[in-house]
Amino acid sequence: MGPRSRVLCALVLLLCVVCPDQATATKYDALYKDPSQPVGVRVQDLLKRLTLDEKLGQMTQIEMTVANASVIEKYDIGSVLSGGGSIPAPNATAAQWINMTDYFQSGALKTRHGIPEIYGIDAVHGHNNVYGATIFPHNVGLGCTRDPALLKRIGAATALEVRATGIPYVFAPCIAVCRDPRWGRCYESYSEDPDVVKSLTTIIDGLQGTPPKGWKGPYVQNSRRVAACAKHFVGDGGTQGGIDEGNTVVSYEELVNIHMKAYPDAIARGVSTIMASYNSWNGVKMHANKFLLTDVLKGQLGFKGFIISDWQGVDRISEPWGVNITNSTELALNAGIDMIMVPYNYTGFLDVAKQLIAEKKVPMSRIDDAVTRILRVKFEMGLFEKPYGDKSLKNYIGALSHRSLAREAVRKSLVLLKNGKTGSKPLLPLSKGAKKILVVGAHANDIGLQCGGWTITWQGMPGNITKGTTILEGIKKTVNSKTKVVYKANPSKGDAKNKGYQYAIIVVGEQPYAEFNGDNKNLTVPDPYPELIKDTCSHVRCVVVMVSGRPLVVEPFVDHMDAFVAAWLPGTEGNGIADVLFGKYDFQGKLSRTWFKRVDQLPMNVGDKDYDPLYPFGFGLKMGLES
Ligand code: GLC
Repeated sequence: MGPRSRVLCALVLLLCVVCPDQATATKYDALYKDPSQPVGVRVQDLLKRLTLDEKLGQMTQIEMTVANASVIEKYDIGSVLSGGGSIPAPNATAAQWINMTDYFQSGALKTRHGIPEIYGIDAVHGHNNVYGATIFPHNVGLGCTRDPALLKRIGAATALEVRATGIPYVFAPCIAVCRDPRWGRCYESYSEDPDVVKSLTTIIDGLQGTPPKGWKGPYVQNSRRVAACAKHFVGDGGTQGGIDEGNTVVSYEELVNIHMKAYPDAIARGVSTIMASYNSWNGVKMHANKFLLTDVLKGQLGFKGFIISDWQGVDRISEPWGVNITNSTELALNAGIDMIMVPYNYTGFLDVAKQLIAEKKVPMSRIDDAVTRILRVKFEMGLFEKPYGDKSLKNYIGALSHRSLAREAVRKSLVLLKNGKTGSKPLLPLSKGAKKILVVGAHANDIGLQCGGWTITWQGMPGNITKGTTILEGIKKTVNSKTKVVYKANPSKGDAKNKGYQYAIIVVGEQPYAEFNGDNKNLTVPDPYPELIKDTCSHVRCVVVMVSGRPLVVEPFVDHMDAFVAAWLPGTEGNGIADVLFGKYDFQGKLSRTWFKRVDQLPMNVGDKDYDPLYPFGFGLKMGLES
């Protein structure tokens, strides 16, 4: 290289260091197309080329069932999503997923500036819409692990399985701080304690990769990671009575110190997007709250990614939902929402938005802020350079290494609440060499029940809904080959009497649910399980394994149990439970939530005065295995 070239290169290099947002010379026909340009330069160069229609298109997210390549091209759609359970075909393969996402992307790349759309999906405990994907324990169980490094590993595994389907964006993690287990989404919350939630934002590093020291703004390491979404900002877990999408009535100090506490960590980890919450704060809908979305989140906390609405979150600003959508849209856009998860009536949204701008009810500066943020995420994550799916990743879906990680997460999430009746020796660890044992309860032999909501479908369901190992299969694989394992999903009264069982494992709990369908005012253990427990345990020593999204009312019959284990919603790797019941590993889980005595105590959280739990936050026994 001659002296002149060396001087020129040095000058260019100096320019990049001194003013990183300054353009350098480019061989492309537009600066934004040049991946060597600083992201800020690319964003500004592209923004100035966009028409209003193209800008509004970028702010529009539509559901895949109303999407096709020509709609995406015609309306410059910025994002497509799969709602819960929205799939290309039953039991779709990675190839079928990528064919779908690539088809949508082909429409986006045909637009005037070829801006790739970003496809989003709820991968909230693994890639849970996808048949055969690894399903990890739901967050309530992961909170009991108190293991930030584990969460990071789970995030990385999840990112690979999501990318294997051609998807670069997930609506996770939920960093709600659930303060009332009557809330149907409490299992999506890591804990009632904001510091536990904050400590587990490490999952973002797994999903997106860890940004370089001092990094500011959204970050996605490469095309084997995904853009994440911290949700739902803010106060989703604090509504009165745990009513989903209800009203969180707390002081600003409590909102910040409890419900907002994990967000600065998420932002520092480079979280690319944040989802606005359905709930209201002191009567004002979060989707219409300019102070919290713009002044606090974008201003004080310095969030530089984009804020996405929740599903029809704009419509739900008004009661009943959807009335006066023009006013709701004006409120949401001016509050600081950048991308609207419409997700169906996108022409309606576009028409209303254009009208609001024409009437100067929404300033162009707001639109430009939103589009700047959306483009920043897309450029930063390399979506312009790699817009299509990577078919080489297909074997990561349900990979053995991921299932092994999930099995580890299961056993670390289990909490031993009781082991031995007063005056009797502990029951656990169970003997692997028993002559004959009894296993009862539907939850022992049902993948769908052990996974819970947000699995294959939005609400989840019982049955053999995906690949995995049931709790019963795990038990059978662990006991000696000569041990006779008798399984009864629904035993009759007295079934356990005088049958020579050395012990019984009773696996019961909740039916799957999601969101408002899980709101529950009495939190009792569903019938016939209380009677089943009392009857079985009256005839044979018993351990009860509770498969639930939250603590339930067990005080009336806990004395009948010889041992009691909270298993939460463990996901596909049910063998993680046998790993601990039979002593291969000791318990390490500590309650992430207070286990109350009676529902009339609620809400009751660690630190409250008159704190009178059955088992306190942080409680968890060990079997005391020889290490
Ligand atoms: C749902 C949930 C949100 C989810 C979104 C897309 O209603 O509130 O957590 O990410 O819609 O499925």
